[in-house]
Amino acid sequence: MPMVLLNDGTRVPALGYGTGTIHREHDTTSTILSAISAGFTHLDGAQLYKNEEFLGAAIATCGRPRADLYITTKLNKLPEGQSVRGALEESLRKLRVDYVDMFLIHVPIFFADLKATWREMEGVKEAGLARTIGLSNFNATQLHTILEDAKVIPAVNQVEYHPYVYDTNKTLVAIHERHGIATAGYSGLATLTRFPDGPVDSALLAPIRRRLEKEAGAPVTEAQVLLLWHRAHGVIEITTSSKAERMQEYLDILRLPDLTSAEVKTIDDAGSTVHRRFFVSNLCSKASTRLMGLLSSARTGWMREQAISVAVGFVWAISRTAMTKASALYPDDDTNTCAGAR
Ligand SMILES: NC(=O)c1ccc[n+]([C@@H]2O[C@H](COP(=O)([O-])OP(=O)(O)OC[C@H]3O[C@@H](n4cnc5c(N)ncnc54)[C@H](OP(=O)(O)O)[C@@H]3O)[C@@H](O)[C@H]2O)c1
Repeated sequence: MPMVLLNDGTRVPALGYGTGTIHREHDTTSTILSAISAGFTHLDGAQLYKNEEFLGAAIATCGRPRADLYITTKLNKLPEGQSVRGALEESLRKLRVDYVDMFLIHVPIFFADLKATWREMEGVKEAGLARTIGLSNFNATQLHTILEDAKVIPAVNQVEYHPYVYDTNKTLVAIHERHGIATAGYSGLATLTRFPDGPVDSALLAPIRRRLEKEAGAPVTEAQVLLLWHRAHGVIEITTSSKAERMQEYLDILRLPDLTSAEVKTIDDAGSTVHRRFFVSNLCSKASTRLMGLLSSARTGWMREQAISVAVGFVWAISRTAMTKASALYPDDDTNTCAGAR
């Protein structure tokens, strides 16, 4: 597995297996064991996923030495009175390890005082509980807040990264580059799985697939082309799957040639013609599904009136919270209307 050198001198496997999204709050032990058997060593967890104990069970039973695995977890919103160190120690107990390789602040808007939180992050690194510390979902403003006082420069910022946010992410990525912060990406297959009707479609990817198939002498999938696009941009890619054959498909990119600069540009250019960020619009769609459910269950006139007034209040409250959150998450992104959970 190719490794990416971080600004603290450590190395992280360039392709990681995520235990969030489809795996949240699930017993993921056997799926993670399949991922490790397939060849994944970089395992991306989070307190928010509420499944760290299953990641811990997989780590304990996979038969691989701890040092062969690269374990990430992320700091969730802290309950009143709990310290960053206390939260990480709880994660370490669930993960059944003495340290994590990477510890990230998961969502900046969960923390009122980012500088104070970062000082605590520096403390857990100093104590040897996390080898590398970094960020996730930080925008340029929040990143600058950290950089103003940081003794340890964050090693990574893990953000949504795919062709439909490529253009919007440019400013942030330029700041990463200026400070030696690695960009880690999640939802890298969104053009294929979440926004399949966009310009980075099968027709656009077909000639690239055919060229790669000819050179590799083996079938190449659209997901593999997208993962190669991330590799071309130097992004540490966090993907996932519930299926052993798909895990293998992802790992098989290690045997595929690089995209040419013209192929990378084709995807960059097509992706930049639209802007779609999944983890911001997610809650909106959940809110409208609830609204439609309420309306369709209201059969009589009186019930329908009650349902409409409840629904209007609900949507108003959600929209206010979501818009505040969205603009805090991505203030430079004027297409945001809602914020979603990950
Ligand atoms: N830091 C954060 O805030 C944050 C946010 C989101 C995610 N993450 C991390 O990143 C990880 C990956 O996120 P993601 O799930 O959004 O990543 P992704 O790589 O965009 O998508 C992975 C999903 O794509 C599906 N898939 C792959 N190829 C497909 C195809 N040809 N047709 C249909 N479906 C296909 C897989 O489904 P199958 O299971 O069917 O294979 C899998 O569920 C998460 O698990 C989490 O660890 C972090």
